[in-house]
Amino acid sequence: MFQPNWEDPLNAAIPSLPDFQAAGKPAPAPEPADTEKPLDSLPPESLAPINPQDKRVVNGLTDVNQLAPFKYPWAWEFFLNANKNHWTPLDINMGQDVQDYHHRLTAEERHVYEHVLAYLTTSDILAMRNIGLAVMEKMSAPELQIYQARQVYEESMHTWTYQHCIETLGLNQSEIYNRYRVVPALYHKIRLAQERLNAALRPDIDLKQRDDLEEFVESYTFFAAVFEGSWFYNGFSPVFALQRRGLMKGTGEQFQYILRDEVMHAAFGLRVVRQILQEENLSLNPKHWKQMWEAAEAAETQYAHFLLPEPILGYRAEEHIEQFRFVANRRAKQLKMPEPFPSAKNALPWLDEQASMRKEKNFFETRVTEYQTGAALSW
Ligand SMILES: [Fe+2]
Ligand SMILES: [Fe+2]
Repeated sequence: MFQPNWEDPLNAAIPSLPDFQAAGKPAPAPEPADTEKPLDSLPPESLAPINPQDKRVVNGLTDVNQLAPFKYPWAWEFFLNANKNHWTPLDINMGQDVQDYHHRLTAEERHVYEHVLAYLTTSDILAMRNIGLAVMEKMSAPELQIYQARQVYEESMHTWTYQHCIETLGLNQSEIYNRYRVVPALYHKIRLAQERLNAALRPDIDLKQRDDLEEFVESYTFFAAVFEGSWFYNGFSPVFALQRRGLMKGTGEQFQYILRDEVMHAAFGLRVVRQILQEENLSLNPKHWKQMWEAAEAAETQYAHFLLPEPILGYRAEEHIEQFRFVANRRAKQLKMPEPFPSAKNALPWLDEQASMRKEKNFFETRVTEYQTGAALSW
């Protein structure tokens, strides 16, 4: 069976970081040689090829309109691989889910399903806005922006997926989309993310200032490690638990496609964070690191107990929280940071399997026959 490397799905080589003693001192700013000045500031006689080694993740001065030569070939690999996981929510048959939702789920299971969906609807819009509005514009190497552009598109596909589930099952849209505003356990997680996004969106943020750069890196770390890497990774599992019992299988399959995207988003984000730390001679503040995970755990615990006041068949709040801790440690390892929850166990060993589903097999079993291909579109 295909076994991806969950620490690093594309085997992107990770640079070594500056030693801890040296960290904290700002990296010397690059001297803007003529070839590094933005293209429009150069008189024609100064035109010259760029040196890819002059590229920087942030605060770079090389021409951002020129994709190659690459300094970050792994970023291009991420883009190519992201395009292998292409689907739309219309590709997956939801017929049985309508039956299941209305006739087979218990009230407790409907509560779980609806609130997972309600949380995700708001989360994916936040994820899209984070990458598209706060992160992408700060990247000064085009190969990073290209993958992030794909990521923005994928987040919008995820939002479409939730909307498709809501419409197909005939759920009350207004009620689902407003739940995070009235349910404290949902609001708590969204608020933590919104605060990080606000920090990165601040119009006067200046990444040449050390404090601002650190704040931006912490925000990006939060989104990659906590929001996408742990909350999302873990967030689909209550519905996977239903899917494993033969319930809501269409939704489960939709979520499997989304999970594959999210694995890549988290891995890419963490890789970019590592690169910034190396290039800018920065290290993550260990106290802030600890506080970030404590806040994330508190929010996830509240969420899990709200979702599952009583266990449903095959899934308990305690397992959900423990799995969050286990996945959090995995993200820490990817950043070479201390594990936030050293004793955590793999409470849901089947979860990684869900992420590595054999797409082609499932695809042809469930693909709806009236799906229109590009060649058969009728307007
Ligand atoms: Fe997403
Ligand atoms: Fe994402």
